[in-house]
Amino acid sequence: MIGDKKIVYSAVQPTGCITLGNYIGAIGNWIKLAEEYESIYAIADLHALTVRQVPSEYRQRALSFFAQYIACGIDPKKSILYFQSHVPQHTELTWILNCFTYIGETSRMTQFKDKSAKHADNINVGLLDYPVLMAADILLYQTDYVPVGIDQKQHLELSRDLAIRFNNLYTPTFTVPEPYISKQGAKIYSLQDPTKKMSKSDSDVNATVSLIDTPEDIMRKFKRAVTDCDAYVSYDEKNKPGVSNLLTILSAVTGKNIESLVKEFEGKGYAELKSVCGEAVVEKLRPIREEYGRLIKDKAYLTETAKAGAAAARGIAQKTLSKVYRKVGLVEG
Ligand code: TYM
Repeated sequence: MIGDKKIVYSAVQPTGCITLGNYIGAIGNWIKLAEEYESIYAIADLHALTVRQVPSEYRQRALSFFAQYIACGIDPKKSILYFQSHVPQHTELTWILNCFTYIGETSRMTQFKDKSAKHADNINVGLLDYPVLMAADILLYQTDYVPVGIDQKQHLELSRDLAIRFNNLYTPTFTVPEPYISKQGAKIYSLQDPTKKMSKSDSDVNATVSLIDTPEDIMRKFKRAVTDCDAYVSYDEKNKPGVSNLLTILSAVTGKNIESLVKEFEGKGYAELKSVCGEAVVEKLRPIREEYGRLIKDKAYLTETAKAGAAAARGIAQKTLSKVYRKVGLVEG
């Protein structure tokens, strides 16, 4: 709690581009939750070093993600926005938590297995330790709720286990965080392979929609979206994953429920669904893209905002870290 408000925390890794999946599954909820709770949102720039990055591109991309957070409507006056690497307490708490985490717990994480398979030439210790750094992110801020997509649920469970383990070994130190996962839109699928999640780092540009894609690109991607060989619109995740994904996206960006959308499309074909969906996404993203265009030119503002965010984050994080150092028996400095 900060004052009498509960705390919401989340982050995105600056890899690839921020996708419509990230927006529907996570960032959209961040904005809603920021109205009611004390909210803290980070760019997880240390996490993404677990795969190789080109330094000059990486720096630019991280700043671009930061500008996109603000362009999405996360107000830095209401939420703390910062870069993870600007707050050293994250890596410090990670070390302590490492000493309470079993290798078996991190090596069975689905994301570790997937990334190890994808980057077989670079299965580094950071990749294995990734969920512990994520637990440190969350626990440092005594977080109550973590708005994420379904793919992060397993990592969240480890964060909870570590908090409970530490609290039981010593005295209550960490708030045990709850995941905040929407019933709908917690997993948006690739437009080219609707059995796979829409992923930031997909090499097929037509599979994902970036928040800052041009309207033409968005329309092209939706028009090419893979559906199936039936011709009627209905929601059936198992047998019609492509069409169901389009309905989920359309529902998320228009606020209409899926049932009413299915009715709207009675007697209409996939081409119409694709173009209505594309247009709705274009309209939803238009103000974000325009605001982003303004913000990205104002580097001084972005840098100042990030600095202020990191200072505020460090203040909260240090309180938790000092408590942890004391509990484990480190000599006070
Ligand atoms: P990342 O960067 O992969 O994804 C950012 C957020 O977007 C959600 N997401 C999706 N939601 C719906 N459909 C999709 N296709 C989709 N793809 C991604 C993710 O669930 C996530 O919420 N480890 C995290 C970043 C992180 C973090 C944290 C999150 C670092 N520290 C602390 C929460 C709290 C990650 O890689 O997310």
